[in-house]
Amino acid sequence: MTKRSRLMILLGLAIIFCLTMVFLSVRSFSSSPWQDWQRKYFQAQITELQGTMPMVHGEEQVKKLDQEIKDWQEKKPTVQEIRLSNGRVERCITCHMGIEEISASHPSASIGCTACHGGNALSLDELTAHEGMYGGGHPGQLAVSRLSCGGSAEVGQCHSGNRQEADNQVDLLTTSLMASKGGELSMSRYMYGLDIPPRVLLKPGETAADLESPFNHRAEEQKFQQNCLAVCHLSGGELPGQQVQANGCESCHVLSNTEHTYEGKDVTIPQSKPGYGISHNLTVQIPYTQCNQCHNQGDYHVDTMDFTPRPDLDRVKASPSPDKETLETRWKKVYSPGLVFTKCEVNLDCIDCHTRKEVMGDGKMHVSEWDALQIQCRDCHGSPVGQPIEWKITDKSDMAWSQTRINPVFPPLSMGDVILKTAKGEELPYVRLEDDKWYNYRKTNGEKYLIPQVIDSQCRQDPDKQSSDDCHKCHDVSKDKPSSGGE
Ligand code: HEC
Ligand code: HEC
Ligand code: HEC
Ligand code: HEC
Ligand code: HEC
Ligand code: HEC
Ligand code: HEC
Repeated sequence: MTKRSRLMILLGLAIIFCLTMVFLSVRSFSSSPWQDWQRKYFQAQITELQGTMPMVHGEEQVKKLDQEIKDWQEKKPTVQEIRLSNGRVERCITCHMGIEEISASHPSASIGCTACHGGNALSLDELTAHEGMYGGGHPGQLAVSRLSCGGSAEVGQCHSGNRQEADNQVDLLTTSLMASKGGELSMSRYMYGLDIPPRVLLKPGETAADLESPFNHRAEEQKFQQNCLAVCHLSGGELPGQQVQANGCESCHVLSNTEHTYEGKDVTIPQSKPGYGISHNLTVQIPYTQCNQCHNQGDYHVDTMDFTPRPDLDRVKASPSPDKETLETRWKKVYSPGLVFTKCEVNLDCIDCHTRKEVMGDGKMHVSEWDALQIQCRDCHGSPVGQPIEWKITDKSDMAWSQTRINPVFPPLSMGDVILKTAKGEELPYVRLEDDKWYNYRKTNGEKYLIPQVIDSQCRQDPDKQSSDDCHKCHDVSKDKPSSGGE
């Protein structure tokens, strides 16, 4: 090698070295998106604290707040990690800083994020981190709920594959009419004379949308697709009147506002974009507004397969959140005009009456809504000839214990307590017999109601006529007589 070529190589190396240094320094000056998200998050905290300034009094307090603001201003973005007990490390919160704890029974410190969401836990790049997320960010979609809610080899059995059937909500839900639309399918086929008597056409896990020709290639096929399946369907179709999909478990367990927009602390989620719950929270305290995303939205005729949206839906949308609504305004704004209800049907939340088996499925495939229903008026009110069925808690393995524990507003249960059992055999652990009187603890807020009993009253019912239609003939909360009762 000549002296000259050695020099050229050295020069070349020097140039490469310089270029590398320039490249590296440029890189460290430009910031990566995760750092930008964190700065946005810090700024959101600062803005919020500054907003509270006018409310703060006293030198001491002002100084404290000033310091807090300064702390946020001086904060530098750093990679955030959750270290799970099994040694796994997850970095999702590097971008999703400040996101709400999903629920008390799913603490992020032990469950992390990917057990429910999937995705790549270590990635700090949005696209790669989100790759393979279950349901594209909606883990409750029924098509993926077995992976997200059911559990895995890594986290163990969660809501599927357990010894007790009641703990397998993922499997049970596949038998719910709300998930399959099996009732609408059977009943409209019956109305069109295709199955007399009506029969169950689906197996657990199948939905009416899976059937290629639900009406045997007749003209009705398209109507069924458009008017029945496209609205309300839990694993696919949109919620009526909204550009938002109903996402399986989430459509009940993640509460939403009428716009379906996020109001929580995670700055990555645009607060104007529909398609999210109010905050990152799972709950069993489900108010009537949540059920009314699908119910009470319009007139639905199985015989003609027509769905007519309510003309007053704007009023429904404008009504305040459930805790701010009075009985009177709720009745007027929320419930479908033309239908008849008793006071307690409007006063209570749907889930105070509609049991867990009705709502999440009971493992059987039902032919119609009526077939699936468990609750009757007389389960709570008795009749002129009978009282509600008492169920005394004498066994530690009783379902009532876990049911009580999961809802924080239920009063604690003790051995020997008496709860109500429906005529079809389902326990209602929030309906209690205390000093010989029946009380109902409301599931959303724990409010306690005395349940008036028919046997002690002036009720003029015929003991053999027990459907709600029968009761509604006399007990009708309507605009004209909001207190009901009488004839
Ligand atoms: C580099 C930053 C970054 C990382 C890392 C990251 N995300 Fe995200 N994530 C975002 C942004 C930004 C959005 C909002 C996207 C949008 O506007 O649609 C988002 C949205 C989401 C959503 C909502 C999906 C939807 O419909 O918009 C979920 C769920 C989610 N992320 C979960 C995760 C999980 C789980 C991880 C870890 C495996 C993770 N993210 C890691 C930036 C990140
Ligand atoms: C117990 C299961 C579960 C766990 C654990 C969980 N999530 Fe979620 N996450 C959900 C559900 C359910 C939704 C609601 C999706 C919807 O509304 O369709 C959601 C929604 C989100 C969204 C969208 C914004 C929103 O609130 O709707 C983001 C972002 C997100 N999760 C990130 C995370 C991160 C980061 C973690 C870990 C700290 C995490 N999740 C842990 C179940 C979970
Ligand atoms: C995503 C839409 C949707 C949501 C949300 C929803 N429902 Fe339903 N529900 C339906 C549909 C559709 C049917 C009728 C299905 C059929 O007959 O095929 C139904 C039927 C029912 C029935 C009668 C049949 C049965 O399975 O017991 C009850 C009771 C009921 N819903 C209660 C509730 C309650 C309580 C809530 C809230 C916790 C709720 N629903 C939330 C769509 C929904
Ligand atoms: C149509 C509404 C609805 C849907 C859809 C729904 N749930 Fe529920 N779920 C409820 C209600 C209402 C309760 C509370 C029952 C009670 O308080 O007795 C509940 C209770 C629960 C509980 C508490 C334990 C128990 O069984 O009472 C778990 C866990 C649960 N649901 C999981 C799921 C999963 C997983 C999915 C999706 C596969 C799902 N739920 C879909 C309405 C729903
Ligand atoms: C006070 C108890 C109570 C409340 C509250 C209640 N229901 Fe019902 N619901 C019943 C009873 C009882 C039946 C069965 C009717 C019968 O026995 O004839 C029923 C029937 C139903 C049916 C099937 C038949 C039909 O009439 O369409 C649906 C669907 C339903 N309820 C949904 C809801 C929804 C949604 C809510 C909340 C917006 C709600 N219910 C609130 C007691 C209640
Ligand atoms: C889960 C238990 C439960 C079920 C099921 C139930 N109720 Fe009630 N009912 C109550 C409670 C609690 C009250 C008292 C609070 C209130 O008035 O809202 C009440 C009050 C009443 C009253 C007296 C209040 C009034 O002035 O109207 C009547 C009448 C009544 N219910 C009829 C019915 C009918 C009809 C059904 C079936 C559609 C029914 N209830 C189903 C719990 C229940
Ligand atoms: C022919 C009319 C009539 C029918 C049908 C009827 N009721 Fe009554 N009910 C009354 C009258 C009248 C009273 C006493 C006035 C009052 O307290 O509102 C009453 C009282 C009650 C009360 C006690 C209310 C209280 O505040 O003490 C309950 C509970 C009740 N009815 C439930 C029912 C149920 C459930 C059905 C259906 C199985 C039913 N009623 C059917 C007329 C009727």
